[in-house]
Amino acid sequence: MIILLIGAGAREHTIAWKLCQGPRVDALFVAPGNAGTAAIATNLPIRVPKTDAPPAERQAYLDEIAHTARELKADLVAVGPEDPLAWGLVDRLAVEGIAAFGPSKAAARLEASKAFCKDLCQRYAIPHARGASFTSRTAACNYVMHLDDVPVVKADGLAAGKGVLIPDTKEEALAAIDAMMSEGLFGEAGRTVVIEERLSGREVSVFAFTDGRTVVPMVPACDYKRIFDGDQGPNTGGMGSYSPPPWYDAALAETVRTAILEPAVRAMQAEGSPYRGVLYGGLMMTDDGPKVLEFNCRFGDPEAQVTLPRLKSDLAEVLWAVAMNRLHEVKVEWSDQACVGVVMASGGYPDQYDTGFPIHGLGSVEDDALVFHAGTRLDDDGQVVTSGGRVLTVAALAPTLAEARTKAYRNVQHVHFSRCHYRRDIAAPSQHAVVE
Ligand code: AMP
Ligand code: GLY
Repeated sequence: MIILLIGAGAREHTIAWKLCQGPRVDALFVAPGNAGTAAIATNLPIRVPKTDAPPAERQAYLDEIAHTARELKADLVAVGPEDPLAWGLVDRLAVEGIAAFGPSKAAARLEASKAFCKDLCQRYAIPHARGASFTSRTAACNYVMHLDDVPVVKADGLAAGKGVLIPDTKEEALAAIDAMMSEGLFGEAGRTVVIEERLSGREVSVFAFTDGRTVVPMVPACDYKRIFDGDQGPNTGGMGSYSPPPWYDAALAETVRTAILEPAVRAMQAEGSPYRGVLYGGLMMTDDGPKVLEFNCRFGDPEAQVTLPRLKSDLAEVLWAVAMNRLHEVKVEWSDQACVGVVMASGGYPDQYDTGFPIHGLGSVEDDALVFHAGTRLDDDGQVVTSGGRVLTVAALAPTLAEARTKAYRNVQHVHFSRCHYRRDIAAPSQHAVVE
């Protein structure tokens, strides 16, 4: 099989690594990839435009990927990030008769419009954080004034994971509405806002492969969004992750499957937008059970770095079965091992940071530890240097979470670059203990 994989992060390096382990991949291309994917696949210099790129640039990008996939005679295009999905890459490829792993533009609305997601959850009785969406600032402010509690304010559209504001007072909530709807914070994405109840509890990311009918849950993971230990500082794309959360037992998995994942897939089918790809639910475990905070239309990052290493089945077979609507024919098996991933980032991220620093010690990492590159590139001398905010994820599999954690951090010590920052508390026992 010839596969073209879209994206440049550690998630895509993980997908590429996993694809290469199976027998089905004859050639793998990654657009644009990073220094990690360059070592196992062929990188193509086609960058994904920024979320707020003008429509003409997006269209040119979709055309270029479709053209490239045709030239390569790709059997399958697997899409990592959300933006190309939301712009309709899968639909564009379908016009060319090229199979793709990922939802259509209509199905990707589940992530690309939080208003759509909330409305769907409401209409199909999928447990979720209750709320409402608004295109009028006055109506949004009136709604907040009449609430008993301080709500969460979210931009409707894609905002690179930054579109959620969690105010402490109603005044802050009103200011958040102003910032989005009047001052253009998050651009077009914030012209419509979703205002929802603030939930509390543990968070978990759940995933399922689906071809629109068959739903195969993956293993769950927890991620760490804040930059500093103890969940301090600003939100990031994710600073680390582990799988499985020990408290996520079989009964909970069954509830999530029957009350959330399957109903969401059935709902999309009923809406005439069948959902194909990975369905990712960001859930809060409340006293009333798991509730959806958001749905995403792709693998999580850094969750992919700790879930895909646990996949025993051939990923290419699974992706192909999803694209061909034959997921029921495939057995998807997972390892019992635990996996912990620690993100090593450029100092200053998620704000300003410098790049171009040589990365040392990659050759000293233990043979069975996993290093998934994100913001890395090869310089003119062939040296791996930093090129982004999140630079790489060091991950480790082991029989227990504690051992996986020790092994991941032991290998983090081997890797060095100037102004490196990472969290020390990923998968720390205090956070995943089973609390009654
Ligand atoms: P989202 O991008 O919707 O997953 O939100 C990002 C983060 O904001 C989540 O991981 C939660 O920590 C937090 N969050 C989102 N929605 C809520 C909510 N309704 N109540 C409490 N926290 C929330
Ligand atoms: N881990 C968060 C995300 O992938 O959106």
